Amino acid sequence: MANADVPQLDELRAQVLEGLRQERKWLPCRLLYDERGSELFERITALEEYYPTRTEHAIMTVAAPAMGRIIDSGCVLIEYGSGSSTKTCALLDHLPAPAAYLPIDVSRAQLEAAAATVRARYPTLEVAPLCADYNRPVSLPPAAARGPRVAYFPGSTVGNFNPPEAVRFLTGIARTVGPGGCLVIGVDLPKDRALLEAAYDDRQGVTAAFNLNVLRHLNRILEGDFDLESFAHRSCYDSARGRIEMHLVSGREQVVTVAGERFRFGVGETILTEVSYKFTLDGFALLAGISGFDVAAVWTDRRRMFSVQLLRARPGSANGVAPVDVHALSAAAG
Ligand code: AVJ
Repeated sequence: MANADVPQLDELRAQVLEGLRQERKWLPCRLLYDERGSELFERITALEEYYPTRTEHAIMTVAAPAMGRIIDSGCVLIEYGSGSSTKTCALLDHLPAPAAYLPIDVSRAQLEAAAATVRARYPTLEVAPLCADYNRPVSLPPAAARGPRVAYFPGSTVGNFNPPEAVRFLTGIARTVGPGGCLVIGVDLPKDRALLEAAYDDRQGVTAAFNLNVLRHLNRILEGDFDLESFAHRSCYDSARGRIEMHLVSGREQVVTVAGERFRFGVGETILTEVSYKFTLDGFALLAGISGFDVAAVWTDRRRMFSVQLLRARPGSANGVAPVDVHALSAAAG
């Protein structure tokens, strides 16, 4: 078993069992991102129907010079879930004399690749990668103390949290950057149902393969016996909640074993594998406000498909500055 390289397998198993025991079954969305899932996601970002990635990139190209005028000189850029760091260069190109870049990612391979790309392009920038799950408290390496902190959380990944989790996550970032610190965040916007549903159910079936890969992943790491042929991908927009839901729909009555426990599925019964919230500008400002941020600036594309927002952690909020752990080694070295 290649399970030694699954971070927090015990916690994941507990979440999987909890989710599958519910009347409305769900699975943690991190199951989407094993190696194969990450490759499929990269393919999704290039699909015609999947507007977020190219739209965010286009917005960043236009907005980055303005961001560079708002953000303090000599900052430390901390990227949450750096992935392939493709959008980061647009920002780094325009920040005034950045002191350091701290990409954080669970995937060591992606982290190393991102660090190498950035090092090659900015030879004098200190790059201190951190291999960690940003959903848990991370202790920052000493490089984080070299200047005012700016967090970067692109991709509208904030939409994959339920609202209370989003608040908890953003509050943690506010504390990490400290009062007056910034967060540059990609936020997807509500739009026509047909456009949204096509973005999450493309004609080539890449998103379907991405969703079904959750079952393949479970079969591998938690001794599951899901029959992938007996489940189908479905995406639907819940306009009242402003979120896309990805489900796996059982095509027949079946019993599946996962981690030694048996689960019954009826015909048409579904497992919720991911939510992806779409925020109005007012709705997101409210969420940011609850989390200790003020919205300083918002950029969108002409069709208002997507937004990139610059938030500033409110001064004098209850949040102090997160201390830097001077003993923490940058994980890439460890
Ligand atoms: C880019 C990770 C936020 O919710 O759009 C893409 C992932 N899920 N297609 C999103 C995703 C289905 C995604 N994130």
